Amino acid sequence: MKLVVINGPNLNMLGIREPDQYGSESYEALIAMIRAHCRERGIQVEFFQSNHEGALVDRIQQAYFDRADAIVINPGAYTHTSIALLDALKAVNLPAAEVHISDVRAREDFRQISYIRPACCCTVAGHGLRGYLEAIDFLAEQMAGGKERAGNGEKR
Ligand code: DQA
Repeated sequence: MKLVVINGPNLNMLGIREPDQYGSESYEALIAMIRAHCRERGIQVEFFQSNHEGALVDRIQQAYFDRADAIVINPGAYTHTSIALLDALKAVNLPAAEVHISDVRAREDFRQISYIRPACCCTVAGHGLRGYLEAIDFLAEQMAGGKERAGNGEKR
């Protein structure tokens, strides 16, 4: 299984930005944690982070041309604004898992909308950095044959 983990704006600031919301671990620590998790499971993983919407669209498209099997994406604030990211995910039509470190559903009204959710097979929100690992396991399980779980299997 070949996986791409895509993070949007301000996620490079993990550990510095709002630790009450996002914890004290850095982006580098997140990468190391995911890398170790994937290594144990024989999953090939690549990472991408950008503060720019178009760069995120480009990376989603690249996943298709690189023949990736699945995408894990935390689009940060673009979750709540970006039709372009939704369209990109629909265009590549790869299994995609939406991750939010914080529990967006317990936060401001403007965070209640996720434009990308209709293109994702699951959403993990409010589980901290561990949520990325849960999303990876969900996708790996689906790849392994448990594809009967259609639709957005929300996990909180
Ligand atoms: C976030 C939640 C978003 O609302 C916010 O804009 C982020 C991070 C999360 O991981 O909890 O940047 O996606």
